[in-house]
Amino acid sequence: MSLIFLVKKDTFAFLSLQNYEKKPTFHICPLPVNENTTMLLFKKVELLQKHITWLKTKGLTIGFTPTMGALHSGHASLIQQSKSECNISVCSIFVNPTQFNEASDLEKYPRTIAKDIDLLASVKNDILFLPEVKEVYPPNLEEIQIQLGHLDKVMEGEHRPGHFQGVVQVVHRLLDIVQPHYLYMGQKDFQQFTIIQQMIEQTALNTILRVCPIKREADGLAMSSRNVRLLPEHRKLAVALSQCLAKAKEDYLHKTIEAIEQQAITTLSNIPDFKPEYFDIVDTKTLLPIKDKSKANGAVACTAVFAGEVRLIDNMILS
Ligand code: PAF
Repeated sequence: MSLIFLVKKDTFAFLSLQNYEKKPTFHICPLPVNENTTMLLFKKVELLQKHITWLKTKGLTIGFTPTMGALHSGHASLIQQSKSECNISVCSIFVNPTQFNEASDLEKYPRTIAKDIDLLASVKNDILFLPEVKEVYPPNLEEIQIQLGHLDKVMEGEHRPGHFQGVVQVVHRLLDIVQPHYLYMGQKDFQQFTIIQQMIEQTALNTILRVCPIKREADGLAMSSRNVRLLPEHRKLAVALSQCLAKAKEDYLHKTIEAIEQQAITTLSNIPDFKPEYFDIVDTKTLLPIKDKSKANGAVACTAVFAGEVRLIDNMILS
């Protein structure tokens, strides 16, 4: 039995699991990823769990960032936050098939593992979990039942039926495997983190969710793994999403919600090849439309727009 350890591109080292409980024999590993960094790579649930249990017996805190790879500075900021609050930062890369509504979207999802490892090393991530589908979904795995009410029916839920059920299953499974003290997610997926918070509360998981701010390109486009698939002309025009959100923020207090939403939809629809799916201003906690601004927990504008064939999402907190 061996543990695959630390990898830069295709450099591996193996560590015997004998006497692991006593003390893993680190002397043959890890290899350096760059001058000051080492990172451990795990592909097997059992081995990762053994290692994390061992780290916890040393009193170390674990921060976890789940991803689907194609990493960018937005992901880097989550890992940096995890590094600043926890002793050990774990990142998973797993393109979860159950959250894609269309087989073609799953197929086209960018896979850039060598670059991802470089990025993880540059932010000194400690552990990379890179499982195969059969590790995450073994045959007798029980599906978790979570009551999401309307949370997974609106906005993304309406346009991507079943998507959030897939996200909930995989995040729950990953949390069950990693058992982190802290979970790091981005504000870019506003509805996703709201649903995951609900899941954590319902399942009484012992993990605290930390939500990190959206990272944007210089022109305002929210960073996303999908951006690399934008045609150059669409990439330039995609700045319209953040501009419409900023306009909504500017107008929020002195215009009606309907007027703001309508204006944004009109602007986005008028861009060649752009098709907005929704531009909704909702309550930050319930994700329901706001009837009375003074009674809302907070307001957030969320949008999804097709730029050619690439579906972009973005949001901005308005109040
Ligand atoms: O946001 C994502 O990248 C994914 O939905 C997540 C949380 C990693 C689950 O597959």
